Amino acid sequence: MNDALNQLQPYPFEKLRALLAGVQPPADKRAIALSIGEPKHRSPSFVAEALSSNLDQLAVYPTTLGLPALREAIAGWCERRFRVPAGWLDAARHVLPVNGTREALFAFTQTVVNRSEAGLVVSPNPFYQIYEGAALLAGATPHYLPCLAENGFNPDFDAVPAEIWQRTQLLFLCSPGNPTGALVPLETLKKLIALADEYDFVIAADECYSELYFDEQNPPPGLLTACAELGRSDFKRCVVFHSLSKRSNLPGLRSGFVAGDADILKAFLLYRTYHGCAMPVQTQLASVAAWQDEVHVRANRALYREKFDAVLDILAGALDVQRPDGGFYLWPKTPVDDQTFTRELFARQHVTVVPGSYLSREVNGENPGANRVRMALVAPLAECVEAAQRIRELCSSL
Ligand SMILES: Cc1ncc(COP(=O)(O)O)c(C=O)c1O
Repeated sequence: MNDALNQLQPYPFEKLRALLAGVQPPADKRAIALSIGEPKHRSPSFVAEALSSNLDQLAVYPTTLGLPALREAIAGWCERRFRVPAGWLDAARHVLPVNGTREALFAFTQTVVNRSEAGLVVSPNPFYQIYEGAALLAGATPHYLPCLAENGFNPDFDAVPAEIWQRTQLLFLCSPGNPTGALVPLETLKKLIALADEYDFVIAADECYSELYFDEQNPPPGLLTACAELGRSDFKRCVVFHSLSKRSNLPGLRSGFVAGDADILKAFLLYRTYHGCAMPVQTQLASVAAWQDEVHVRANRALYREKFDAVLDILAGALDVQRPDGGFYLWPKTPVDDQTFTRELFARQHVTVVPGSYLSREVNGENPGANRVRMALVAPLAECVEAAQRIRELCSSL
């Protein structure tokens, strides 16, 4: 057996199951789950139609590189969305389809980490747990940067010592963040690119929540925007991760892409060829349809905006909670410790959330997720509103 497997932590939902085992929720209250970040809005029907009308492609082996039509649709989307000058993203070299960002984040880490160098994979803390598992299985050491309220829930990159950057092989960013909802500012992205050049590391920007934002006039920037503003037409050391899961409510389609540095993507393509993770052709054709449409994405944002407005209205005064920059999570402070809060909320109100300390690691005696919980506003509006009212009721009784 690969003994690195022993280093993997149980997934947060396993810890949550253990925390709630044996707890009896009130039978007269229906269960409301704010725990899992699974989009629940309707998948666009035109994507389902594109999928089903291409089922004859089941007879074809897909290529790892993917169809030119998909890579071109993605390159065009990136240029429009992130203000990248037309023609900078060469669909043949700067874009690769992936089966959702989860597998891509994992496989990318295996591609980039050089095992012989005892390197670091630096990630925000709290974080999406794949970053950590991918680093450990690649033979690297995870290094966590706390995301605290006093720094807008972003890591304080200026406080990272040079000896950490010297050992860094890969830096994960998550913007907007899971679970904090914080956006990494454009100026910070530019500073990080300069650091990547100085210390020779790769930046992997997980932007799978980038299309869930509040101001239609102000789509948030991403790492490609920073490259564009810096005139970095080769996207050197920069790779972004995007997905149809959240943007288009297609978590079951398993479709996303990576885009950026052509040399890194060439190595990633080689890795993926052996890994055996080509996207089925019918999925690629359905994905082309999804990336070429923004109407359903705007409608999706409107649904989340409505839910955030309603829920924040109810929770104001009951919990210390803010509207995030983007994404679909709330990351409130809890009046009692996060595990107790989670258990009591389940036991008294039949609402499930995730303790913040399950999504982060303790470093130097401090866990940046302690005394916070993650609430995913994925359920329909009426359910989110009811959950917020029950949370308010719990808070008033604590
Ligand atoms: C931060 C983050 N990255 C990546 C993913 C993976 O999403 P997918 O594989 O559906 O693209 C998730 C899923 O919840 C996530 O929260």
